[in-house]
Amino acid sequence: MSELEDRARAAQHHAYAPYSKFAVGAAVQMSGAIYTGVNVENASYPLCVCAERNAIAAGVAAGARALEAVAVFTDASPPSSPCGACRQVLIELAPHPERVQVTALNGRGERRSWTLAELLPDAFSGRELP
Ligand code: THU
Repeated sequence: MSELEDRARAAQHHAYAPYSKFAVGAAVQMSGAIYTGVNVENASYPLCVCAERNAIAAGVAAGARALEAVAVFTDASPPSSPCGACRQVLIELAPHPERVQVTALNGRGERRSWTLAELLPDAFSGRELP
């Protein structure tokens, strides 16, 4: 297991998921450093925030801007991939989505892997904006 994957695994223990019981740990490598996040749920369900978005927020808050790799650790089998909203947030910080490896893992040793460009082809990048 890579360091990035191990950090996602360790983060999962801190997930706050009393409603879904679906604990997610995410780790992102941004500008050479690793940042982690977990899903943080709320009794007002739409306010739940995914692990991937919290990891990105941690990196941005630390001054990082370039997403290089992502690992997501859950108990799902097969390992579950980032939701659509998180794919859009991840790609916002990825200068080269085709080089960003996204790996989903679980405690059974199962893994799935894609590039971010594969997970969100033809993304809305903001270059379309006036
Ligand atoms: N969740 C994530 O943290 N990441 C995803 O990519 C999918 C879903 C969280 C949100 C919510 O807390 C729980 O998993 C169930 O949807």
